[in-house]
Amino acid sequence: CGIVGYVGRAESRSGATHGALDVVIEGLRRLEYRGYDSAGVAVVADGGIESRKKAGKLVNLENELAEHPLPESLTGIGHTRWATHGGPTDANAHPHLADGGKLAVIHNGIIENYAPLKAELVAKGVQFLSETDTEVAAALLGDLFRGAADGDITKAMQLAAQRLEGAFTLLAVHAEQPGVVVAARRNSPLVVGLGEGENFLGSDVSGFIDYTRRAVELGQDQIVTITPESFVVTDFFGNPAEGKEFEVSWDAASAEKGGFGSFMEKEIHDQPAAVHDTLLGRSDASGRLILDELRIDPAELKKVDKIIVLACGTAAYAGLVAKYAIENWCRIPTEVELAHEFRYRDPIVDANTLVVSISQSGETMDTLMAVRYAREQGAKTVSICNTNGSTIPRESDAVLYTHAGPEIAVASTKAFLAQITAAYLLGLYLAQLRGNIFSGQIKDVLADLNKIPEKIQKVLDSAEELRELARSMKDEKSVLFLGRHVGYPVALEGALKLKEIAYIHAEGFAAGELKHGPIALIDEGQPVFVVVPSPRGRDSLHSKVVSNIQEIRARGARTLVIAEEGDEAVRDYAEHVFYVPETPVLLMPLLTTVPLQIFAAELASAKGYDVDQPRNLAKSVTVE
Ligand code: G6P
Repeated sequence: CGIVGYVGRAESRSGATHGALDVVIEGLRRLEYRGYDSAGVAVVADGGIESRKKAGKLVNLENELAEHPLPESLTGIGHTRWATHGGPTDANAHPHLADGGKLAVIHNGIIENYAPLKAELVAKGVQFLSETDTEVAAALLGDLFRGAADGDITKAMQLAAQRLEGAFTLLAVHAEQPGVVVAARRNSPLVVGLGEGENFLGSDVSGFIDYTRRAVELGQDQIVTITPESFVVTDFFGNPAEGKEFEVSWDAASAEKGGFGSFMEKEIHDQPAAVHDTLLGRSDASGRLILDELRIDPAELKKVDKIIVLACGTAAYAGLVAKYAIENWCRIPTEVELAHEFRYRDPIVDANTLVVSISQSGETMDTLMAVRYAREQGAKTVSICNTNGSTIPRESDAVLYTHAGPEIAVASTKAFLAQITAAYLLGLYLAQLRGNIFSGQIKDVLADLNKIPEKIQKVLDSAEELRELARSMKDEKSVLFLGRHVGYPVALEGALKLKEIAYIHAEGFAAGELKHGPIALIDEGQPVFVVVPSPRGRDSLHSKVVSNIQEIRARGARTLVIAEEGDEAVRDYAEHVFYVPETPVLLMPLLTTVPLQIFAAELASAKGYDVDQPRNLAKSVTVE
């Protein structure tokens, strides 16, 4: 879910006048990628609370607001929902009201003990209108406001937070305290934005990036109260606490579509910059990696005897690529596991294990829980993350940020390439530290990495035939993807993109596995993308994959091939060949992924789908 809060005064010190509603709606527009099952706002006005909410995307709420406008206000909160408890209906949309309509609450997360709390409140005579756990939190707050908190919404929030279990970011406004928004955070994201004569809250900084780049990240189990002139942070018991101030390094323009039809198209085209910026400043001219930010004692890193990469979705495929590179360069056994599987199987982890989590958002609950578990077991934890101020890096021993800039489209593209790039840097750094490879070799890999951005650009500039093919395939029912070695995670990612945004059945396979089952799926006209390894690679992988192509062609498949420039041999076996520039084998995914992203985006838009906000998905899944 996405959350925004705002308090201002008639004119902020910077001279601008912002109405709460405008700020909140703008913030929700930027946060809508976090969930779009419903949206709602509440403002404090004329001694009361006014609220509007609507199932479906933000535009439905905007239409509702046009029909039933809200009064002018300087205090407001807004929410865009990814449904957990209760379906995506108007009634279940946030805000939820309590205290006779004087208190409005929005929530991200899941309150696990809502059932006993609800029973307790029902016994006190409270009536509930929705099926949500949020309404229970609202009613509890209302009850405490009138009771133990003695009319102080901050105090009420502290007392409520002490009683809630699970994951939550809660925001509340009360009609009797205009000019105040209070929030609590446990296991769900929340950032404060600092303005002049106005302050903001957001699930992440994009919620207020139009107004300020000064932000404060909050810790676990904290409460923050904002007024136009102040922000006060405490723990759940009212003891003073501190947030960490930081400056947002990107601006509102980088979260705009920049002339592209969708954020996803734009983000695909941002990839040369995403890779370039992730490499920037992390090595010197002599080819030495400088990862000062990796604040783990080098002596400890030298002792690492096992690496476990934890992630979900696309980030997990970046992890699979990392495994090939890290094992090759560092000779450290490296496992990759879906975070939600790792956490619950009693994995073997100790002080010599390095756990590398990969997450674009830094908020994925499954990944966060796995990192926490690994730390409890004594592992050292490094986070590869794209979002400053997010939870996973905060809770890890060290972080290596990817510099892809804000990724808005739900289906990940540029973050994926940036994650792979960061993982390469980490692998090279460990190899350097442990003396596994010669410095000359590291220098060569870095030189090749530095050439990647312009090579991606070349792929982007020569995609017309691929786009045409995608449009012609919009009615396909199933598409398969094959790859081998580092091409295998690329095939998995190609299939995931197509599932996510085009709702087409798609599967990725290791090409060698084909004969052990999947080949039975091949039928006349079945489209199969094949990511062909470089003919320069070792162990005759290339010829093995070419044989695989022949096997499926003989059974009627349409073979669509991604190959390296100069690989003329594949032409004879492919209906279409899309060439990417030459690069060392381990770095190939940074290029071979791009055509598959373009294919999925083009096909989904040809179907008329919302490429940026596919059905049922959310960008940042902050529940387990
Ligand atoms: C969600 C998104 C995926 C993403 C995954 C991991 O499922 O829909 O696109 O790959 O989360 O997200 P993260 O922010 O942890 O990289």
